[in-house]
Amino acid sequence: MVVARQLLLRRFSYYTRPTMGYLKEKIIYDMTSDTATKPTDQMFEIMKQATRGDDVYHEDESVKALERYVSDLTGHEDALFCASGTMTNQLCLRAHLLQPPHSVLLDARSHVFIHECGGLAYHSQANVTPVHAQNGIYMTAAEVAINIAGEDVHQSPTRVVSIENTLNGLIMPRDEIEKISVLARSRGIKMHVDGARLWNASEESGVSLREYGKLFDSMSLCLSKGIGAPIGSILVGSKPFVAKCRHLRKLMGGGWRQAGSLAAVAHWCIENIMPTMKHTHQQAKRLAMSLEALGCVLVYPCMTNQVWLNTAPTGVTTGQLAEELAKYGIKIPGGNGVTCRMVLHHQISDEAIDQFITVAQNLFEQYKGSKPLAITGPASILAYPTTVQ
Ligand SMILES: Cc1ncc(COP(=O)(O)O)c(C=O)c1O
Repeated sequence: MVVARQLLLRRFSYYTRPTMGYLKEKIIYDMTSDTATKPTDQMFEIMKQATRGDDVYHEDESVKALERYVSDLTGHEDALFCASGTMTNQLCLRAHLLQPPHSVLLDARSHVFIHECGGLAYHSQANVTPVHAQNGIYMTAAEVAINIAGEDVHQSPTRVVSIENTLNGLIMPRDEIEKISVLARSRGIKMHVDGARLWNASEESGVSLREYGKLFDSMSLCLSKGIGAPIGSILVGSKPFVAKCRHLRKLMGGGWRQAGSLAAVAHWCIENIMPTMKHTHQQAKRLAMSLEALGCVLVYPCMTNQVWLNTAPTGVTTGQLAEELAKYGIKIPGGNGVTCRMVLHHQISDEAIDQFITVAQNLFEQYKGSKPLAITGPASILAYPTTVQ
């Protein structure tokens, strides 16, 4: 009870803190992404206590402590703290991919494929085999099996299977990953996971990071998303693999000097914010269920911290909803379409969820009896309309 109250107070402490000595920040519950969390005063205190060595020479103790901690959590030999999830994904894939022709097999909705600026082509000269998951949730081992490219002279052989978990907030079953892992490894193919939100998958499914770790040769774990750190992502793998990634990081201009403060705060966030994720998932599920009860459709089932919304049946656009919510300090993606993704995190209060539901209820009431709208929205959502009605 006391812990829960402290967490709640912590949630609110940021919103009332003075900025630049005299300004007060406006209360904003930003649900556009879990990258939208703001570092708290407490986090700045942690940063002050960090060591100040040079990480390019791997001489910073706070960075080394974070890397040891995450390698241990995931059961891998070594880790490398980097600036972003895009960097840790691309470094891992580049380190696995030695010599074209080669390709990466992945879910067609994967971040590494559609949201990393074509990095696979740029950094690794790699082809991609995108798999359209027929069940709408995750690609299966059977789908992987039929899509593996072999050594035929016309093909670019599959060298890596890249899994994303969670993907759009959806948890991939551990047993399915294991089947894929066994299959891939039996063919000499490396297994990578874009685990930007593997923390969420682990907290929700009860599968430990170490259990997940056994199924992959490399893992990329974002720290600036649900974990709530201001900056960073960390990759793990074997010692020689991480050494290769460290070298490639320097090549990409990603060697950073006094990174200790960022590592220290990320370390603190893993220990303190990860345990709050289950509560965040409950909030997301409550919001999703309430919006469904008010006539909306969910593009995907809500399994963790993401609510993928389709407001078409209510006659209201997400832009209209966003405009109403903004009056109460709640921010969601707007636009003129009827679909959007909302992502919850540790700085969203229960009261904000209540407020959201009330606002939506009042707004939908005004449009009661109006014609359902045509389905429009961001291409990233509409391109995969598995469950969009
Ligand atoms: C699933 C996934 N992987 C990787 C990334 C990349 O992270 P970053 O923005 O730190 O480059 C993101 C960012 O949103 C993501 O959602």
